[in-house]
Amino acid sequence: MNLWLLLTFTALAECRYQRRGTHSCPDLCTCSSTGAEVECSQSSLTHFPVNSLPPSTTRLSIQSTNLSTISASHLSAVPLLDNLQLYHNKVDRLPSDLLRGIPHLKTLDLTGNQLVRLPPNVFSHASLRSLVLKNNQIEKVDAEWFSNNSNLTWLDLSGNRLTDIPAALLRKLPHLENLDLSHNNLQDLQIDTLKNLHCLQTLNLAGNKLSSLEPTTFTHNLKLSQLFLQENQLQELPVTLLQDLQRLELLLLNQNQLQHLRSGLLEDRNPSFQVILSGNPWVCDKKMEYLWKWLTAHPQNIIFVEEVMCAGPEALKHRQVVSLTDSELGL
Ligand SMILES: *[C@@H]1O[C@H](CO)[C@@H](O)[C@H](O)[C@H]1NC(C)=O
Ligand SMILES: *[C@@H]1O[C@H](CO)[C@@H](O)[C@H](O)[C@H]1NC(C)=O
Ligand SMILES: *[C@@H]1O[C@H](CO)[C@@H](O)[C@H](O)[C@H]1NC(C)=O
Repeated sequence: MNLWLLLTFTALAECRYQRRGTHSCPDLCTCSSTGAEVECSQSSLTHFPVNSLPPSTTRLSIQSTNLSTISASHLSAVPLLDNLQLYHNKVDRLPSDLLRGIPHLKTLDLTGNQLVRLPPNVFSHASLRSLVLKNNQIEKVDAEWFSNNSNLTWLDLSGNRLTDIPAALLRKLPHLENLDLSHNNLQDLQIDTLKNLHCLQTLNLAGNKLSSLEPTTFTHNLKLSQLFLQENQLQELPVTLLQDLQRLELLLLNQNQLQHLRSGLLEDRNPSFQVILSGNPWVCDKKMEYLWKWLTAHPQNIIFVEEVMCAGPEALKHRQVVSLTDSELGL
C-alpha cells in the first residue's frame, strides 16, 4: 500500500517536473524543460503572463487568449526572445517602443488580432526579419513604422483593409524576399511601388481589386519566382509585363476578367514555368490564336489546362480552348 502511494506521488511529481521544467512557469502556460519555449493558449488568459516567465525564454507563443495589451515592460521579462507569436488574441494597439527590450527578436507574428492603426517606429528594430500582420483590420500602412534600410525579409499584410500600398514604405524594405498583400482592397499599384525590391522572390497580390497593371510594374524584381495575381479583376496584361522575369516559376492568373492574352506575353519562359489561367472569360475568336497555340505547344507548363474554357462566342461556350480547331477560331 505504502509502496503504491510512493510510486503514485513520484509519478505525479515527474509530470509536474516535465510540465514546469527546472524553471518557473506562468499559470495557464506550459514551458519546455529548459524554459526556452513557453506556450500559453488558455482563453482565460487576459493579461501578459509577466510573472514567472523563465528569463531564458527565446520563443514565446500566446495564442487564442483574451490578451488585449502588451508593452515593452512586459517583454523586458524575456530579454533573449527571438520569436514572438501572438496569434488570435484581442490585441488592438501596440506602443511604439514595444520591441525596445528584446534586441534579438527576429520573428513577430500578430495574425488574427484587432489592430487598426500602428504608431511610428514600432517596427524599426535592427534584428527583425519576419513580420506577420495577417488578418487584422489595418486600413493604412505607414512608412514611418520602419527605419530606412530595414532588414526585414518577410512581410505579411494579408487579410486587412488596405486600399493602397505606399511606395515610400517598400522603399524602406530593400531586403524583402516575400511580400504578401493578398486579400485586401488594393485597386492599383502606383508606378515604382516595387522598384526597390531587388531581392523579392514571392509576391502575393491575390484577392484584391486590381483591374490593370503597368508594363513596368515588375521590371526591377528580377529574382521573382512566384507571382500570385489570382482573384482580381484584371482585364488585360501588358505584353512586356513578364519580360524581365527570367526566374519566374509560378504565375497564378485564375479568377480574373481576362478575355485574351497579348501575343508574346508568355514567350521565353523558364522550362519549369507553371501557369494557371482557369476561371477567366476567354473569348474564343481570332484574337485567341496566341493563347491557343501556346497551350498546344506547352502543355507541361500549364496547370488545369482543361479548365481554360471559352466564355464566348455563344457557339463555343464551355469548350476547352485546347480542343478548338483553327476553323472554329476563324483562322
Ligand atoms: C474572453 O472574451 C470573450 C469575448 O470577448 C468573453 O466572452 C469571454 O468570457 C472571455 N473569457 C475570459 C475567460 O475572460
Ligand atoms: C540590419 O542588421 C545589421 C546587423 O545585425 C545591423 O547592424 C543594422 O543596424 C540593421 N539595420 C537596420 C536599419 O536596423
Ligand atoms: C531616410 O531616407 C530618406 C529618403 O532616402 C531620407 O530623406 C531621410 O533623411 C532618411 N532618414 C534617416 C533617419 O536616415
